[in-house]
Amino acid sequence: MEFTDALLQWYDRHKRTLPWRGVGDAYAVLVSEIMLQQTRAAAVIPYYSRFMAELPTVDTLAACDEERLLKLWEGLGYYSRARNLKKCAQAVVSEHGGAFPRTAAELVQLPGVGPYTAGAIASIAFGERAPAVDGNVLRVMARLLEDDGNVTDQRIRDRWTGYLQSRMGDRPGDLNQAFMDLGSLVCLPKSPQCDGCPLSGFCGAFAHGTQGDYPNRGEKRTKRQEELTVFAVRSGDSFLIRRRPPKGLLSGLYELPNRPGHLNREEIGAALTELGVRPLGAWEIVHRQHIFTHVVWHMQVVRLNAERAEVPGFAWYTGAEPLPEAFLKCLK
Ligand code: ADE
Repeated sequence: MEFTDALLQWYDRHKRTLPWRGVGDAYAVLVSEIMLQQTRAAAVIPYYSRFMAELPTVDTLAACDEERLLKLWEGLGYYSRARNLKKCAQAVVSEHGGAFPRTAAELVQLPGVGPYTAGAIASIAFGERAPAVDGNVLRVMARLLEDDGNVTDQRIRDRWTGYLQSRMGDRPGDLNQAFMDLGSLVCLPKSPQCDGCPLSGFCGAFAHGTQGDYPNRGEKRTKRQEELTVFAVRSGDSFLIRRRPPKGLLSGLYELPNRPGHLNREEIGAALTELGVRPLGAWEIVHRQHIFTHVVWHMQVVRLNAERAEVPGFAWYTGAEPLPEAFLKCLK
């Protein structure tokens, strides 16, 4: 038996029940796969369901207002995913008459669709024998063959794509999803559950007890550390916000007033005056941290109440503005 057969047998018994499974619609696969990049399935489920209820077809997404789209994405992070998803939908509508192309080679030409997503759509929605090589596949394969190629290197990813291409068999969509489930449930990064693994009999790392050595991710780059002072200015159940600039981190989303650095008491007072905020009562300080891809924010949060007055350059939150998780956590 090939390892792929063992993996499929395991999948048939243990696969997760997920709302995007069994739908067979390329748009649904696209939306779910983009959401699942960098985000665990359990966290994606409510977002996916809401998104598909509000924007059920590629045409509705292509025509969706950007702020409404970002609101649907609020809290999921990596907001460029949402923008690229819309660009992709627009390309499907304008260049393909609203019908997704059916091969990975064509799908990868769409904006925001990389080799992984193209393989996932082609295999799951159209049955093409296309691998979908993500972090799960790379981890499983590196352990299976005790391969120490650096999995952050595109050439190593391409090599695994080539290796798997000829082994996709008759159920390519299921095989790709079997890798995903094995990687999420069994072949875990830190604590692999080898006792329950259908591939342990094929696995070099299991045989030699070297699971922890794979995959090789190269040297981890350290993230830039940034300190900032964030003002959570409340009036009743609203608070002051403004739109972030159109370029850069969290562009186009909203933010709480903030200043670089951890300000001291006098500087906080001066900043409030400069903002044009008159505190009602004392302020309180809490600390929050948020980790982005390339930077960590260490936020000193100044919480205070104020009169609900006009503050130049700012607005009072109405519930409709997309506010990223980094700022939402300053309010909690
Ligand atoms: N992770 C990435 N894609 C996935 C999928 N289709 N199902 C479950 N987990 C995933």
